[in-house]
Amino acid sequence: MSVVKVAILGFGTVGEGVYKTIHSHAEELTAVLGKKVEVAAVLIKNKQKRRNIADEVLITSDIEEILQLPQLDLVVEAIVGKEQPFSFLQKAIKRGCHIITANKEMFASHSSELLKLAEENHVSVGFEATVGGGIPIIQTLRQLLKINRVQHVQGIVNGTSNFILTEMREKQQSFAAALKLAQENGFAEADPTNDVEGFDAFYKLMILSRIAFGQEPNWNEVDIAGITSITSELIETAEKLGLRFKHIVSAGKVGSQVKGSVSPVLVSKNHPFYHVEGVENAINVHSDIVGRITLQGPGAGMFPTASAVIEDLVYVCQSHLSRGNHSQTSQAASASVQDKKES
Ligand code: HSE
Repeated sequence: MSVVKVAILGFGTVGEGVYKTIHSHAEELTAVLGKKVEVAAVLIKNKQKRRNIADEVLITSDIEEILQLPQLDLVVEAIVGKEQPFSFLQKAIKRGCHIITANKEMFASHSSELLKLAEENHVSVGFEATVGGGIPIIQTLRQLLKINRVQHVQGIVNGTSNFILTEMREKQQSFAAALKLAQENGFAEADPTNDVEGFDAFYKLMILSRIAFGQEPNWNEVDIAGITSITSELIETAEKLGLRFKHIVSAGKVGSQVKGSVSPVLVSKNHPFYHVEGVENAINVHSDIVGRITLQGPGAGMFPTASAVIEDLVYVCQSHLSRGNHSQTSQAASASVQDKKES
C-alpha cells in the first residue's frame, strides 16, 4: 500500500494532537484514503525534552533536514510566531509539499503570498484549524459561497476569552485564576496576550473575512478590544440584568468595503451566543438565500484543533494525492478565485 508522508512542524498542543490522532485514527484514515498516513518527521525546538514519538520518526530542529527527506507529501505547521513558520512553509511549497497550517497570526498576515505560491507550485493549502478550533467553518463557508452571498459574519472565536468570562461568572473565579486554568487546559496561546487583548480573535476575523467577502477590513481601521477590562463586578451586574459579556468579532459589507470590529459585547437571553459557554466558539453567518446559520463547537484544545487539521489532511489527500494529480479544485485555487471575484 502506498504511503502519505507527513511532517509536523511544532510539537506543542496542536502538533502533538495531530500526531496522536494520525495514530489513533490510522484505520479510518487508511479506509478513507486507500493509503497509509505516516508521520515521517517532527520539527521541535528543544531536543532535550522527552516526547512520546516513535523511534522511526525523524526528530530534528533543522527544517532543511526535513525538506531533504526522499518522500514528503504534506507539511503540517503548528509553531508559534509569524516569519519563521512563513519561511518554512514557503520552502515546503517550493519543495512540492501540500501544506496545512493552524497558525492564525502567520496565515492572517501571509495568506495571499502563500496561496499564490501554492497555486504556482500546484499544491494545496489547508487552514481550517486557524479559525473556530474544531468547527468546520472554512469548509462550510466555501460550500455556502458556491451560490449564497454572505452579508455578515459574527463570532465568538477565542476559546480562552470565552472560557475566562464563563469561569468568572459561573464560579466567581478571578481573571488570573481562570486564565491559568485556560493555560493548563492547552486553550491559551504560549503568550496569552493575544488571547485576552483580542489579537487572536482579530487574526481569525481577517481570515474569515477573506473567505466570506474576498477581502478584509482595513487592518488599521478595526478597533481591537479584548476582555481585560471586564471585571467580576461588571459580570455580576450584567448577570442581574439578564445579560452576559461575550467577546465578539464581526464583519460585514458596507458599500464596497468590509468593516470589522473586535470587542466584548453584552448579549441578552435571546441572542444565539448567550448560551455559548466555556471554551466553545460559535459563528453566525448571514447570507442572502439561507438567512442566518450558527455553527457552534469546541474552539480550542488539543483534539478539536487536531480534528480540523485532519479534515484538511483528508481533503488534500482526496483532492490530490489519491489520484496522483494536482487537481485545480484545491483550497488554494478556490480561495484565489474568490479573491478575484470580489476585487
Ligand atoms: N488560543 C486560541 C483560543 C486557540 O483560545 O481560541 C485556538 O485558536
